Amino acid sequence: MDPKASAVSKVTVPAVLERKLRGEKITALTAYDYPTARLVDEAGIDVLLVGDSLAQVVLGYDSTVPLSSEEMLHHLRAARRGVKRALLVADLPYGSYHTGAKEAIETSLRFIKEGGAEAVKIEGGKSRARLVRRLVDAEIPVMGHIGLTPQSIHRLGGYSVQGRSLEAANGLLADAQALEDAGVFAIVLEAIPRELATTLTRRLRIPTIGIGAGPDCDGQVLVFHDLVGLSFERPAKFVRPYANLQQTLLDALTRFKGDVSEGRYPSDRESYHGSPTLLDQFEKEVSPRTRS
Ligand code: KIV
Repeated sequence: MDPKASAVSKVTVPAVLERKLRGEKITALTAYDYPTARLVDEAGIDVLLVGDSLAQVVLGYDSTVPLSSEEMLHHLRAARRGVKRALLVADLPYGSYHTGAKEAIETSLRFIKEGGAEAVKIEGGKSRARLVRRLVDAEIPVMGHIGLTPQSIHRLGGYSVQGRSLEAANGLLADAQALEDAGVFAIVLEAIPRELATTLTRRLRIPTIGIGAGPDCDGQVLVFHDLVGLSFERPAKFVRPYANLQQTLLDALTRFKGDVSEGRYPSDRESYHGSPTLLDQFEKEVSPRTRS
């Protein structure tokens, strides 16, 4: 294979930045294990985020708050094994960067060295700018995340649209600019009005990746399980379900149960067969003893 060709197709941090300059949309999805990461990568998605939504959609926690760095690392490694082309980004879990830059750098370096991440994502705006600068100075590419930041659930009091007042919109603009100045290579904008996302996208040099932020962002990200209809929550307004895997899987499992219960599975064709001569001999040897 031409080494230049593979270098071109591998998505890197500079390649994500260039997308904005060329006006090409960036595609991003979450994935948390080998099969989903493989599928996302093979579909040609640019950025694969091992998001801390892992806590809810895979591990069954009520929020992203309880997720530990060890749990994240375990899933990150599995996802890494499924990815060849996409840029692999890992979320820094709640509590893994709040006590200071040393802890944030140590967690990020583990995610990169032991988990194979190529960048980390961190929630928060202006208040994280100094920390982002420290991470970037330590050669750790950082993706920002503002708007609805699920790790702030206890402060926010719920998962609601952000940036609806003039003051809040100005606050988000200041957050975005502070993060850009600190060196993030892209910013996730979650659950903010379309018009605000459009303004932020125009004002920033770095790409914006929207989730519930309208179509004018430089890219879009969704949670894998929402996209394929496999989360048990009622989907948010911005989610377009491209499949209903929950129903497909439930049908398959129910049919399996029915087939086994009614003796339809396995069939003779789904069974292994021995050589007739050997079986004959086997029968002769075994039968007398089973009869006694
Ligand atoms: O954890 C996650 O899935 C995320 C996306 C919503 C961007 O942060």
